[in-house]
Amino acid sequence: MILDLLNKRCSVRSFVDKSISEEVIDRILEAGRLSPSGGNEQPWKFGVITNKELINHISDIAYHQHWMKEAPLLIVLCTMIVEDERGGREIQKRRFPSFAGEIDHLGKELYSNLNMEEHQTKIAGTQMVLAALENDVYSTWISYFDVYKLKELLRLPENCIPSEMIAFGYTNNSIHGRMKKSVEEITFYNYYE
Ligand SMILES: Cc1cc2nc3c(=O)[nH]c(=O)nc-3n(C[C@H](O)[C@H](O)[C@H](O)COP(=O)(O)O)c2cc1C
Repeated sequence: MILDLLNKRCSVRSFVDKSISEEVIDRILEAGRLSPSGGNEQPWKFGVITNKELINHISDIAYHQHWMKEAPLLIVLCTMIVEDERGGREIQKRRFPSFAGEIDHLGKELYSNLNMEEHQTKIAGTQMVLAALENDVYSTWISYFDVYKLKELLRLPENCIPSEMIAFGYTNNSIHGRMKKSVEEITFYNYYE
């Protein structure tokens, strides 16, 4: 059940020395592939990193988060910049009508960069995390890294921006869920006040 998995999920930063099978990696990628996206554009590429040397290098680029070096698998969630050609500007003008004039005047390249929907990769990543956990693989999200150094290291094309990474692995550690706010604290019904 999905709620059982969500209760089991927590960030793990200590992994045992055990690789993740191709079969499990394929299941994780399939979970990402099936995720929703605006206009079904699927504006992403998923970088599958299992090379130890590369993982060590990426950990340095992630401001020396040394714990990452234990992970047998990193998935780099990359956002593909969708060019200003598919009516996106009209949608943004309707979402933010008071800025419609400014949105019209932005140059194509600047607009495409500002409109990069990096948040969309988080949906795919969330599905991956759950698919991994179903196979007893724990994970932790990483967004604290130098985006441009990582882009260069992985030889990403200009329109491909690394948004987040997820480190995956098996753990022996006892798992402690973090404190979460109560439903009452984070919910409103119909009107805020
Ligand atoms: C988008 C995102 C980015 C994160 N970046 C990092 C990171 O760079 N390094 C890290 O150790 N944890 C990172 N985390 C993990 C959070 O610290 C963790 O999810 C939070 O403390 C809640 O704990 P839980 O995942 O166990 O519920 C990130 C989480 C998210 C969702």
